[in-house]
Amino acid sequence: MQEIEITDDGSATIYVKELDEHYHSVKGALTESEHIYCKSAYLHHSNGTPLRLLEIGYGTGLNAVVTAMVADSTRPLHYISIEKYPVSPTTLSQLNYGEIVDKELYKAITDAPWNKAVEITPYFTLEKIEGDYLTDNLPQDIDIVYFDAFAPEKQPEMWSKESFERLFASLSPNAVLTTYCAKGAIRRMLIEVGFSVERLAGPPNGKREILRATKKGSV
Ligand SMILES: C[S@@+](CC[C@H](N)C(=O)[O-])C[C@H]1O[C@@H](n2cnc3c(N)ncnc32)[C@H](O)[C@@H]1O
Repeated sequence: MQEIEITDDGSATIYVKELDEHYHSVKGALTESEHIYCKSAYLHHSNGTPLRLLEIGYGTGLNAVVTAMVADSTRPLHYISIEKYPVSPTTLSQLNYGEIVDKELYKAITDAPWNKAVEITPYFTLEKIEGDYLTDNLPQDIDIVYFDAFAPEKQPEMWSKESFERLFASLSPNAVLTTYCAKGAIRRMLIEVGFSVERLAGPPNGKREILRATKKGSV
């Protein structure tokens, strides 16, 4: 069962009762999206035109719209997002994102068909893939990863060394990955797989630290 909750910055999130897990930080869904993904990964990375971004877990589309709002001619973006269990239109319509982000943009992103690349703005092409991150072939030559799976305690298979190795192989040199999870075990796994990993300050009023992993140089 899914319930809508309002997080500390006023933006909504979804709570999944069976997993006892939220789609976003309860300290602020919008703040998390802006800080961990948009600012620390997309805005941080300026190599390559256009950039190719892979999000693990499309969920509500909040990360997508926050990113689309700042995509511009200096870093046009092909935003690919994989989702195994698309959120129902009814649940999506109960989120308050239309009031806190660009309403038209969020509608265009939400209404975009699955499994097709759609130009949402001249600088933001969206490709929502309905599929399984763990078993589907991954898109290649990815420059930026938003690793936004449910927590390792709730879905450990998403955080296995094997799946990070597969992901690593799909990345361009100098690709960056950010995630809200700063656990030591995950940080060490990312390093074992070949990333250089930094601990960054978390979002204002949110988690203490987040991780940014970089695939250094050409491999
Ligand atoms: C933390 S939520 C993502 C929140 C999302 N990024 C947003 O902005 O709303 C994790 C997402 O991963 C999805 N998911 C779970 N297992 C998956 C899998 N094997 N492949 C792809 N997506 C999966 C869930 O359905 C859920 O939407």
